[in-house]
Amino acid sequence: MGAGYENPIGYLLSQFSRATGEPKTIRGYEALARRRLHPLMYANIAGGEGRELTIGRNRDSLDAVMLNPRCLVDVSARDLSTTILGQKADLPIMMGFSGGLGLIDKSGELGVARVAAKHGMISGALMHSSFRFEQMEAEAGGPFWLSIVHHDDRATAHVIDQANRLQSFKAVCLTVDTMVQGGVPDRKAARRGLPLKQAILSRKNKMWAPLNDMTDPVFHVGEPAGEVLNWRPQPLTQLQTWERLKWLQSLTDLPIVLKGIMSVEDAKLAVQYGCAGIVVSNHGGRIVDEAPGAMNVLPEIVDAVGNSIEVYFDSGVRSGHDVFKALAVGARAAFIGRPVYWGLAADGERGLDCVVTILKRELDRAMAYCGCTDIAAVTRRCIRLPHPLGSYPD
Ligand SMILES: Cc1cc2nc3c(=O)[nH]c(=O)nc-3n(C[C@H](O)[C@H](O)[C@H](O)COP(=O)(O)O)c2cc1C
Repeated sequence: MGAGYENPIGYLLSQFSRATGEPKTIRGYEALARRRLHPLMYANIAGGEGRELTIGRNRDSLDAVMLNPRCLVDVSARDLSTTILGQKADLPIMMGFSGGLGLIDKSGELGVARVAAKHGMISGALMHSSFRFEQMEAEAGGPFWLSIVHHDDRATAHVIDQANRLQSFKAVCLTVDTMVQGGVPDRKAARRGLPLKQAILSRKNKMWAPLNDMTDPVFHVGEPAGEVLNWRPQPLTQLQTWERLKWLQSLTDLPIVLKGIMSVEDAKLAVQYGCAGIVVSNHGGRIVDEAPGAMNVLPEIVDAVGNSIEVYFDSGVRSGHDVFKALAVGARAAFIGRPVYWGLAADGERGLDCVVTILKRELDRAMAYCGCTDIAAVTRRCIRLPHPLGSYPD
């Protein structure tokens, strides 16, 4: 059992620098964010569906993967860059696919995009962003993937049209796991249904907050004010069927990535329907409780689709070692969700910059431990998967 379990207070203290008091790990940033956020806001972000078994399994499945240290390899120079859908990226990490960032810090989605650009990362641009895409392109540069949670055809077509016109938008990422919105009427789900209360609370916390999608500028572009005022977010109906993906494809030449794939069957269907990539994700345990951890299913999905599609990993990533493990199994990149909120809540853009720097340093060190000088060398030889999957020599 690790020191964190035996001595929780000592473990928590070890997450902070003795010299500066600043967090040294993502856990440290979470602890700091928890102190700075209103308790309901923290619970909303940290929480998940039901008994939160899926959240636990996300961590357990990542923790169960072991690194295979190597020695006497010259790892003095290490290159963390890769390509994602043919696009060069300095880091195999992506972020900006989660909503309500403006509730946490006024820099919101724009701040996330600026930090991503600074680190040479590809960033999500949410359809319900609080900033116009033109502004994000002008101030952050990109590259971006348009992130869609489908509410209704009109809104989806509208934002895809915008993405088509902007140079920096390189893909459309459709979230496919929001078949219902937080269904179990427990206290956490109830809190999630109260955006107005959250906004009031965050104002008390002296934070700027959009009330909900209705006030987001993206829905104001080219629309008469009356229409916008009458616009209400629909229940999350999503696109409904695989067949309707053809409609989405008819709207754009950009590659389409599906976020929220958790089964071999759906991964194969994504290939069959001409998608360019899939994000293996359970939405950080916020939609379906009692599901497997994302790392429980990543190996079988990678094995099933081979090189026919790019596979990305999301849900539970809390360190650069987690990123390393996902890449070693066969993911092209890993997404971070809650750590983005922790960085922003702790210290705005600067806090998020530190979060990314921590992940980068940890990934770099994991590569050194396992004898890798570049991302191509990060393969299943570098890890040991738990029984019954074995260690996968390639
Ligand atoms: C507060 C919050 C809001 C989110 N909003 C969205 C969203 O609008 N669209 C989406 O695809 N995923 C959304 N997600 C899910 C994240 O993109 C990501 O899949 C999840 O957080 C990954 O799990 P992790 O936080 O454990 O890393 C949200 C997550 C959180 C915590």
